Amino acid sequence: MEILLKPDLKLGIIAGGQLAKMLIQEASKLDITTFVLDDDENCPARSIASHYVKGDKLDFDSVYQFGKRVDLLTFEIESIHVGALKKLKSEGHRILPDPEILELIQDKGLQKDFYEKNRIPTADFNIYETTQAILKGIEQGEINFPFVQKLRKGGYDGRGVEVINEEGDLQKLLSGASVIEEKVQIAKEISVIVARNKKGEAKCYPVVEMVFDPDANLVDKLICPSSITPGQSEKALSLATRIIELLDMEGLLAVEFFIDSKGEVIVNEMAPRTHNSGHHTIESMITSQFEQQLRAILNLPLGSTMPKLPSVMINILGEKGHEGPAMYEGFAESMAIDGVKIHLYGKKITRPYRKMGHVTVLSSSLEDALKKAENVKQLIRVKSWKKN
Ligand SMILES: Nc1ncnc2c1ncn2[C@@H]1O[C@H](COP(=O)(O)OP(=O)(O)O)[C@@H](O)[C@H]1O
Ligand SMILES: [Mg+2]
Repeated sequence: MEILLKPDLKLGIIAGGQLAKMLIQEASKLDITTFVLDDDENCPARSIASHYVKGDKLDFDSVYQFGKRVDLLTFEIESIHVGALKKLKSEGHRILPDPEILELIQDKGLQKDFYEKNRIPTADFNIYETTQAILKGIEQGEINFPFVQKLRKGGYDGRGVEVINEEGDLQKLLSGASVIEEKVQIAKEISVIVARNKKGEAKCYPVVEMVFDPDANLVDKLICPSSITPGQSEKALSLATRIIELLDMEGLLAVEFFIDSKGEVIVNEMAPRTHNSGHHTIESMITSQFEQQLRAILNLPLGSTMPKLPSVMINILGEKGHEGPAMYEGFAESMAIDGVKIHLYGKKITRPYRKMGHVTVLSSSLEDALKKAENVKQLIRVKSWKKN
């Protein structure tokens, strides 16, 4: 087995957000030298990366020059100049996951084509290049209300997704090439994180249930174990494994699913990286998603995905009406509760709903973890003296 881990291994990470920061925390345990590329000099990963490089992830030269400095290149975000990654690959540089996979996933249209071609259950869809084409599609009866519009590229955390229930919502249409999808009657949203190494070994984490905050369009709570049936869980795990195998991917893949009102398990979207829906793994699983990503891209044996305890994760979000330098409240009270683990990302500026950190609550009973998480949610506040 070719093992890439060696003294002085230089790992490059494109973008320096919280996912990069948590990846570096694991990388430092293996004594890996880390390089981070980010335009923002105050990015969360900068404070712990071995080397920070200022540069734009969407600029060819910045990505290309950064890639040449490291032994292995990975990323924490989809929105990257793929042309630069492909050039690096053609010159023999190692990039994992593969740039071709990133290119496919970066574009929700190509993603949906991939599901269709491989008969992976997903909501019915069509692709439209312009707003005019969408309006024409409605006129001609190709598109029926209600539907969901998703920009093919650049969306995240609900930005780039609009639910159009009726004609009156049409003013909300986003401009840009889009996937138009039927609106699913969602009973539950779940996620599976799966890892695979070069040898072809694949391992899934148990299904996690994602409860969304309808105002923020962000995950409000992650619950593990989820309350779905064993059959649904089996289906989701086998679909996630099938997808990572079809992609012949080395790395970590997060697959989001809907359970619809009939109990069917259908794929929503995927991300070729560590994911917000895997934050609980840091404390609740034998191997965290960040360690697993390193194992996968370094072609090491994958770690155990066995849970230690039931867990509930909540995001620490910027308080509504507060924007400016962040001030935190409620840590001591929260930490007085057994099983509460706080992670702060180190973002200096808070904004309404900005992800500033997360909390994982562990307990021998899920019910108790849920109760404590609700409690912590009321206690922790991210405010700013500069209100708006
Ligand atoms: N076809 C759909 N029907 C109903 N709700 C949807 C549909 N697609 C997305 N949503 C809702 O919008 C959220 C964001 O959409 P998603 O495709 O996951 O985009 P993002 O990249 O922003 O996470 C989903 O988590 C879900 O709550
Ligand atoms: Mg999503």
